[in-house]
Amino acid sequence: MQMRQSFAMQLQLQLHLCLLLIGYAIAQPHIIFILADDLGFNDVGFRGSAQIPTPNIDALAYSGLILNRYYVNPICTPSRSALMTAKYPIHTGMQHTVLYAAEPRGLPLNLKILPQYLNDLGYTSHIAGKWHLGHWKRVYTPLYRGFSSHVGYWSGHQDYNDHSAVEHGQWGLDMRNGTELAYDLHGQYTTDVITQHSLNVIAKHNSTKGPLFLYVAHAAVHSGNPYNPLPAKDDIVRRLGTIQDYKRRKYAALVTAMDDSVGRIVEQLRKSHMLDNSIIIFSTDNGGPAEGFNSNFASNYPLRGVKNTLWEGGVRGAGLVWSAQLSKRPRVADQTMHIADWLPTLLEAAGGEAALAQLNNAQLDGMSVWQALLKNEVSPRKSVLHNIDDIWGSAALSVGDWKLVKGTNYNGSWDGWYGPAGTRNLRDYDWYLVAKSLAGQALQQLKVLPKTADMMRAREAANVICKDARLKDAPNISCNPLKAPCLFNIREDPCEQRNQADVYPKVLELMLKELQLINSTAVPPANKPDDPLGYPRFWNYTWTNFGDYVDTNDCI
Ligand SMILES: *[C@@H]1O[C@H](CO)[C@@H](O)[C@H](O)[C@H]1NC(C)=O
Ligand SMILES: *[C@@H]1O[C@H](CO)[C@@H](O)[C@H](O)[C@H]1NC(C)=O
Ligand SMILES: *[C@@H]1O[C@H](CO)[C@@H](O)[C@H](O)[C@H]1NC(C)=O
Ligand SMILES: *[C@@H]1O[C@H](CO)[C@@H](O)[C@H](O)[C@H]1NC(C)=O
Ligand SMILES: *[C@@H]1O[C@H](CO)[C@@H](O)[C@H](O)[C@H]1NC(C)=O
Ligand SMILES: *[C@@H]1O[C@H](CO)[C@@H](O)[C@H](O)[C@H]1NC(C)=O
Repeated sequence: MQMRQSFAMQLQLQLHLCLLLIGYAIAQPHIIFILADDLGFNDVGFRGSAQIPTPNIDALAYSGLILNRYYVNPICTPSRSALMTAKYPIHTGMQHTVLYAAEPRGLPLNLKILPQYLNDLGYTSHIAGKWHLGHWKRVYTPLYRGFSSHVGYWSGHQDYNDHSAVEHGQWGLDMRNGTELAYDLHGQYTTDVITQHSLNVIAKHNSTKGPLFLYVAHAAVHSGNPYNPLPAKDDIVRRLGTIQDYKRRKYAALVTAMDDSVGRIVEQLRKSHMLDNSIIIFSTDNGGPAEGFNSNFASNYPLRGVKNTLWEGGVRGAGLVWSAQLSKRPRVADQTMHIADWLPTLLEAAGGEAALAQLNNAQLDGMSVWQALLKNEVSPRKSVLHNIDDIWGSAALSVGDWKLVKGTNYNGSWDGWYGPAGTRNLRDYDWYLVAKSLAGQALQQLKVLPKTADMMRAREAANVICKDARLKDAPNISCNPLKAPCLFNIREDPCEQRNQADVYPKVLELMLKELQLINSTAVPPANKPDDPLGYPRFWNYTWTNFGDYVDTNDCI
């Protein structure tokens, strides 16, 4: 009797699972994840100044959710590792600086990553653009880690026209189609190459065979090589004549080309009848390099700091999520979110709670915020570890509204506020451009593009207001994180102007304890010195998977 009952229960369970799977097959959304490289907080229209028009990105933001408390890691490799694994970089050994192109290491192979999880739910995954999570052996590269195709590059940056990368004084080509070198793409602008592959993938996708995951990892707006740090298109630079500073104008042209790309991708999704069943994410990977940092000219104004610092300007990212399921009125999502949360969040969007069950024993730092975003409920995330880097001696942690900053990078020389501010006047923005853009037109056809007045309200709500208007004179209660840990109330003081460490010693103590606790779970950084055998001059001036051909000094 008991056996029969359990058999019946099993049958019921199986039926239930089947129905769930059928449910997926009908409703599973396509996922398009667009990652900008080094884009500043203040460099998209929906988030910052009106200086650089980004009408396509803005159209998505205003008809989706502007992620207002969205955190990323302060630099490329750590941030991308968190996106792919849902783990903090201190838990994967990726916490210290970037992966250099001749290093014999990569994102550890025992880690299951985002496309692999999605493929298990029936997705087909593709990547266009930058990888930067390891290539010294073939098995570390995208085609071996869940992606069906890759047109793009393996290292951290490249020239947008000749596709070579200069690093540590070494120079070599870094452009691939799958694992093959793509000499034939020479001279084609990187942003266009990445866009074209994205369009091809979407156009060729057969939805009856399951949903698509497309990871569009732009080279833009990272600087290029020293001989041409800002590889902008001349015709776009010419259009942006109102931006006085020539280098800033060239940076803006990198942004504009990327915004055009977003428009073309949204338009292709519409043409392929996939848009109304897509989730589109647009995100930066880290804060912007401003005023010449990394030879670049981004702006995180009025946030403090730059890329690769733990100030808000380094870690509070420009980001949005769009889906037809989200409310049609523009909403600024105040839910705290970290880039590590995308993996569980997207799994839940793709497969409901059943899909999340496969994460139960995975020991992830990321958590699903899907329901919180959909229903505008409180975020399950209460704290964010921004990073712990014991080599540089810096760490930062947020718990609720409090943020602890202990130590700093660059000996404190990038701890200030950097412009340009651009105009913050809503009326100076060419609002008609949003509806006129390719993305705006596609969204209008879906009848989800809000009225201008609603867009203006959203833009106003997303505006960051500092406690003290005059940033540079403001830090009255000064903070020198090289001398002592600083404490900020980020909700009241998003610009980190008023160190509260002496005012709230108990909070400081608790925050330091919490940091110590998290630190006790860290693994050592996995960085390795360059293996000179990986230098391009030994490989016909290409960056390659040298570890497959030579014995490297790797000791595993
Ligand atoms: C990449 O290779 C595939 C297969 O050979 C080919 O069909 C495709 O056109 C190539 N893509 C680019 C961008 O060269
Ligand atoms: C898509 O896949 C289905 C099922 O395999 C097939 O019947 C159909 O012909 C395909 N459509 C295209 C356009 O290839
Ligand atoms: C950091 O700054 C201090 C004080 O200005 C100076 O003495 C020290 O040499 C600097 N260290 C580095 C690594 O630049
Ligand atoms: C800074 O502190 C001084 C002394 O406590 C005070 O007089 C001054 O108004 C403060 N300035 C600002 C900008 O808060
Ligand atoms: C983290 O722990 C390591 C090893 O115990 C220690 O050397 C380091 O100083 C700690 N870092 C922080 C930020 O507490
Ligand atoms: C370099 O290119 C030449 C000519 O295509 C080829 O014969 C040679 O094997 C290549 N060498 C390496 C190390 O890839």
